[in-house]
Amino acid sequence: MCGIVGYIGAQQAAPILLEGLGRLEYRGYDSAGIAVLGGRGTVKVVRRVGRVHALAAAVPARIAGRVGIGHTRWATHGAPSEANAHPQPSADGRIQVVHNGIIDNAAELRARLATEGVDLASDTDTEVLAHLIAGAARTRDTLEAAVLAALAQVTGTYAIAVVDTATPDRIVVARNGSPLVIGVGEREMFVASDVSALVRHTSSVVHLEDGELASVTATGFRTFTRERDDVAKTPTTVELTVEELELAGHDHFMHKEIHEQPSSVERMLGGRLDDRFGSARLDGLRMELRELRGFRRVKVLGCGSAYYVGQLGATLIEDLARVPADAEPASEFRYRNPVIEPDTLYVAVSQSGETADTLFAVREIQRKGGRVVGLVNVVGSSIARQCDGGIYLHAGPEVSVASTKALTHMAVGFALLALALGRVHDLSHADGARILAGLQALPGQIAEILADEETIAEAGRRLADARSLFFIGRVRGYPVAREAAQKFKEITYRHAEAYPSSELKHGPLALIDADLPTVAVVPDDDLVERNLAAAHEIRARGGRLTVITHPGVDLGDLEADRITVPRNERELDPILLTIPTQLLAYHAARALGEDIDRPRNLAKSVTVE
Ligand code: F6R
Repeated sequence: MCGIVGYIGAQQAAPILLEGLGRLEYRGYDSAGIAVLGGRGTVKVVRRVGRVHALAAAVPARIAGRVGIGHTRWATHGAPSEANAHPQPSADGRIQVVHNGIIDNAAELRARLATEGVDLASDTDTEVLAHLIAGAARTRDTLEAAVLAALAQVTGTYAIAVVDTATPDRIVVARNGSPLVIGVGEREMFVASDVSALVRHTSSVVHLEDGELASVTATGFRTFTRERDDVAKTPTTVELTVEELELAGHDHFMHKEIHEQPSSVERMLGGRLDDRFGSARLDGLRMELRELRGFRRVKVLGCGSAYYVGQLGATLIEDLARVPADAEPASEFRYRNPVIEPDTLYVAVSQSGETADTLFAVREIQRKGGRVVGLVNVVGSSIARQCDGGIYLHAGPEVSVASTKALTHMAVGFALLALALGRVHDLSHADGARILAGLQALPGQIAEILADEETIAEAGRRLADARSLFFIGRVRGYPVAREAAQKFKEITYRHAEAYPSSELKHGPLALIDADLPTVAVVPDDDLVERNLAAAHEIRARGGRLTVITHPGVDLGDLEADRITVPRNERELDPILLTIPTQLLAYHAARALGEDIDRPRNLAKSVTVE
């Protein structure tokens, strides 16, 4: 959803900007650009359509300057083109702006600027900012004042970084609804959309809040509000290391992240399993047992895959706590004027912690007096900070645009929450202990599934030639099927659709033929016979099958590619049933030669509505 970087200090800016943009590329990869301030009021700007490496190849080796900003774009207003790439300049090139977000009143401002005789050179909403700042700079003493005056005219979301050739000793940044961090170095400073772009240089960071700006120089920074009040900020230390952002011998980040799951899940569980009470220790919820007991309903909100895991989470909560629970896409919830109930626990689930739809849903709930906890991966992210408490997922950085390990961690997070809720509602100590043992077994069982990668890869390669696929499952298996279809379509560009197995005969069966294979999730539970019956109906109509199932399940004469995963407790089984679907998608996409970590049209962090 666009990534921005900035550097000011004693080193050459261009290589630092390019390296930072490479780290932020997961946020958008339609086009990229940098602007570097040179001596005597000059600026060099390079912009290119395509990936950051195309930009790097175009940047002259001798581009000199110790102050600069950069951008990698996921197009919203205006197609990917050099003119629409950022930095966006003012007409005289004095002001350069990089922006992540959407200026809502851009059309109106463009019309006004045009009547004032300004030549608009791009189709972007960002360009208006550059012109407004340049206009304000004519009558203001400082770049800070000009940026404030421009921002007073815009509505929408933004994280911006601005440089001015007339004041080359600073970068001015501002945040409203899109993330922005400042990295504090030794006589050098950095700005970025997230810490991954900074960790090579510093672990000391400051997060800007919405409505805040900062004036960043080589030796320090000053933060202030749109109302011009100074805000004191103390840097915090990030734990991320640069090694965690490398491929470490894997061909793709997606593959690396799938294989990290045994150890990352083990790390996540560390210290959270309470054997004594057969429950989960979740201090981050910041809630007394009495408060937990008071909730009569749970509502889960997330987007995309996080929403599908949210459905799994709602089922876990109903199963273990016997508290009614459901999940809804945060993007829909926020716009339907939902009734917010005081005895409902709202749960926002997000890997990035920056998804705009989820963040705005959290704010809407809080505005109406509801209590929201977060299941969030990125520490210190907007959603994590906005929520009233939560469970950090501790999956580590997820670079691949298609999410895998963070989703597994979300499911484990829901299991912990369901356990804690269950143990203050209806769940017995014995059942709590059963779930604890199941959770403890997960890392080893995930490793077992991954050890059989070649069987899954073979099945995945056989699915690669399908024009369209079905993924089916029932009850707990249905969210597994939904997420599996989502992963498959994201990285293979094949049409994949999930159905409850029970719904096939009500319509979709009409599509089954030899060219439309089905992946069926068939756990060894009380629905196994019915699930197998659906599989037979597919086979009888010439459909190819891949069945993800448990060791005891007898497929009889059903002709199918079989993937067997170990059994856990029935409530936790969906977590394990999902793991092979990650590898199915990965190996199908690999066979097709697709750009697995950077699927077209997508970005990892969707910070616009
Ligand atoms: C799919 C995927 C997306 C995200 C969704 C929410 O692989 O990654 O569907 O799950 O955009 O993102 P987060 O979890 O960052 O809120």
